Amino acid sequence: MVKIAPSILSADFANLERDIRRISCADWLHVDVMDGCFVPNLTIGVPVVQSIRRCTGMFLDVHLMIDKPERYIPAFAQAGADLLSVHLEADHPSGIARALRLMEEHGVRKAVALRPITKAEAVLPYLEELDMVLVMTVEPGFGGQSFIEEQLDTVRRVRELIELRNPACRLEVDGGVSPKTAPLVLSAGADTLVAGSAVYGARDPAAVIKALRGQG
Ligand code: DX5
Ligand code: ZN
Repeated sequence: MVKIAPSILSADFANLERDIRRISCADWLHVDVMDGCFVPNLTIGVPVVQSIRRCTGMFLDVHLMIDKPERYIPAFAQAGADLLSVHLEADHPSGIARALRLMEEHGVRKAVALRPITKAEAVLPYLEELDMVLVMTVEPGFGGQSFIEEQLDTVRRVRELIELRNPACRLEVDGGVSPKTAPLVLSAGADTLVAGSAVYGARDPAAVIKALRGQG
């Protein structure tokens, strides 16, 4: 089943609880953590995830856009994340492997994320143990960018690898997803859609969530 994960990056941070309630018909809540180093933007940290955890029972899908993410896995797990995504470009393979081990020890679901420059095959060393692969369809860092259509090839290739090695693994796409681009992403093999500006920029976020599911 397709899951929709609105990104609170496009929410009003002064009214976060209200904006989380506005998308309660979605499946997951996508939380973008940026460190000003891996990406040129600073956003949400551990205390905010902790506060979000207290105000919603939604599944928290936490996207870590930070260098050497293993340093922060225990803190985000304890703050209440249900799933953590670490970028393959954010550390050496040994650091990524340690980050995944820490997720396992802390009982959170495990995902790796790919910038547009990274080949689908980069997931292979980890794929068997993953709960999800996240393919970026914009350069990570900011909401509201245009969908990079060439990334559909990466989505297709990751889907093939998932079918071969770990069919239970989810495939999430993040960046420029809207009711217009969602059908392309879904037909390329994604089953989990992140959408920030398309959902929060709309007068009726629930209608957009429905449209993203293909029920518009
Ligand atoms: C970008 C973030 C995305 C962002 C998506 O670095 O990872 O999750 O919020 O925003 P839209 O849907 O506006 O492209
Ligand atoms: Zn994201």
